[in-house]
Amino acid sequence: MANAHRLLLENARQVVLVCAQGERFLSGPALRSLAVLEGASLVVGTDGLIKAIGPADVIQRQFSGETFEERIDCSGKCVLPGLVDAHTHPVWAGERVHEFAMKLAGATYMDIHQAGGGINFTVEHTRQASEEELFCSFQQRLHCMMRAGTTLVECKSGYGLNLETELKMLRVIERARRELHLGLSATYCGAHSVPKGKTAIEAANDIISNHLPRLKELRRTGELHVDNIDVFCEKGVFDLDTTRRILEGGKKMGLQINFHGDELHPMKAAELGAELGAQAISHLEEVSDEGITAMAAAGCSAVLLPTTAYMLRLKQPRARKMLDEGVIVALGSDFNPNAYCFSMPMVMHLACVNMGMSMPEALAAATINAAYALGKSHTHGSLEVGKQGDLVIINASRWEHLIYQFGGHHELIDYVIAKGKVVYKK
Ligand code: NIG
Ligand code: FE
Repeated sequence: MANAHRLLLENARQVVLVCAQGERFLSGPALRSLAVLEGASLVVGTDGLIKAIGPADVIQRQFSGETFEERIDCSGKCVLPGLVDAHTHPVWAGERVHEFAMKLAGATYMDIHQAGGGINFTVEHTRQASEEELFCSFQQRLHCMMRAGTTLVECKSGYGLNLETELKMLRVIERARRELHLGLSATYCGAHSVPKGKTAIEAANDIISNHLPRLKELRRTGELHVDNIDVFCEKGVFDLDTTRRILEGGKKMGLQINFHGDELHPMKAAELGAELGAQAISHLEEVSDEGITAMAAAGCSAVLLPTTAYMLRLKQPRARKMLDEGVIVALGSDFNPNAYCFSMPMVMHLACVNMGMSMPEALAAATINAAYALGKSHTHGSLEVGKQGDLVIINASRWEHLIYQFGGHHELIDYVIAKGKVVYKK
């Protein structure tokens, strides 16, 4: 009896593997060019994993007589790995379009934050929202991300600050993990802002004595899957000491450290993250030279967020220096009510134009390196046999069009596929 498989992608003009030797990340000179096959086909099995990739004629011979639930003719098209968005805040209620107008008129992020807007505005609305309401808007946002090619996304809590609402947000993320096709990495970010009526030290004590033990219990019983712990380490939010205490508490219970640092002020967050064995640090507009060196030595990835630097008119993070020093550079959309962008293709474009990254560097940063930042690069982030069949098919003769055509991803993307199943078709 013929073997059955889930999916055959036939005869693509290019199949962008990104890497082909089981690399867990790409850094330094390895980023000069990516592994690309021309005139290739790819097979995904019924378990959702990639079974074969190779020249179209070889695959045709190898699988002749076998059956596929779906076959897609990719002639003239390119196949890329599903994009990985390494930093988002997608669960919230309460629009902040009015703040965009304030910023255009000259207000800074911290002006708005200190006046009770910003994160604290979203916290008030998120506390009041029902779990169902939060799930519905979250689901729609994930769908928008998916149509732009994202198949694995990091999702933070952090608009609750109190235990009750933080858990509500994490349950919403957990439900999406169970019900939707997208891959999710869940991050507890109870230290996203200092809640009204508390000092940073009181908030940190509450997190360490009340939030983390409860999370530990819910993870033990399997009710919640939480992968990462995050803190907004920033002047006027959580300083280096409180950040350290919270991150150490999370690490002790097995969470990966993945936090906001050195965004608006130099905080020595990169140095701290490298010392604590952080998997990733995000933002880094104000990182020091020593911080860059320490991150490179520690294998701590830098999640750069080009939309935020652009929207807030911050100085750009020094991506070139990080890349030249061998830091594992990843990208994220930072989707949140302040920086409202679902699109990793646009993020890659901004990384190239505003941060001086090359297109291969940007694609690696949005695939294998973003997967590394989430501790998932053994299963995600490249097209290799045994990895998850998460794919994007674009109607263009070269993969670079996905970055080059700014805002053109809706026209370009024909299919998005998760675990070998078509989840979006144009
Ligand atoms: O990554 N910097 C802190 N957190 C978010 C902003 C969240 C918000 O403003 O709601 C960020 O940009
Ligand atoms: Fe963020």
